[in-house]
Amino acid sequence: MENKTVYLNGQYLPLNEAKVSVLDRGFLFGDGVYEVIPSYSGHLFHFQEHLQRLENSLAGISLANPHTREQWLDILTPLLDANFDQYIYLQITRGAASKRDHAFPENIPPTVFAMCSAIVPIAGLSNGVKAISMDDTRWKFCNVKAITLLGNILHRQEAIDQGCAEALLIKDGYVIEGAASNVFAVIDGVLCTPPKGHDILPGITRDVILDLARKNNIPCSEDKIPFAALQKANEIWVTSSTREIIPIVELDAMPISDGKPGPVWQAMNQLFQAHKQALL
Ligand SMILES: Cc1ncc(COP(=O)(O)O)c(C=O)c1O
Repeated sequence: MENKTVYLNGQYLPLNEAKVSVLDRGFLFGDGVYEVIPSYSGHLFHFQEHLQRLENSLAGISLANPHTREQWLDILTPLLDANFDQYIYLQITRGAASKRDHAFPENIPPTVFAMCSAIVPIAGLSNGVKAISMDDTRWKFCNVKAITLLGNILHRQEAIDQGCAEALLIKDGYVIEGAASNVFAVIDGVLCTPPKGHDILPGITRDVILDLARKNNIPCSEDKIPFAALQKANEIWVTSSTREIIPIVELDAMPISDGKPGPVWQAMNQLFQAHKQALL
């Protein structure tokens, strides 16, 4: 195991010395939230937006934010290495109470953990990947970035078991998002993505893409996408902080258009890479 330095409850420790109690509510109940923030050459990408989402997630589970944004930046900065593209994983749980009880404990400090990992480009992602569609079996607060990810894990594993990279989740006949990504489709020349709400995680990458589309006159819409329209889309992409923009070239064993990444993806990927560079 790589013995890098991690942050736990006010201390910087080697990973193999960072320990939490078995009574921690993250371990017992999945009672916590997390964030994933990319860092390019030591610069945290859209830090304020990630921190805003963290604040929203904490409010969504009635857990106080233990730190100001300035304190978070001070905590995270020593974990970064400017020589690599990395991502910060940070997690806050409701802490370790003296006994297991569903009700929120009183006067217990939260458990705060953060570590940094390399972003390893996955070979072939830009050639496109395969996806399956599945009924969305998750809970009703998908806008909260909760550590309770069993639903997402089971969806992603089903995709992997079927030789695919992602599961696109369908609810009431509409595509919602991926197991660990947001979804975009190019339909009749318009870049479409489902609207924000309780059904999806409000992805930071999603917002960056919409902003880039609007600034570059790429027609776009935030509207519900019927599954039947998705199946006939010219392009489908999934987006996330660690994988950026990945074209889906096959859905449920059927090719999307000619089975190759499309021109709107090519254009958006270039805009996205240029946007990353411009922030350095
Ligand atoms: C369920 C889900 N939706 C969307 C996303 C994309 O969010 P972001 O672009 O902020 O990484 C993720 C990221 O992991 C996710 O887990």
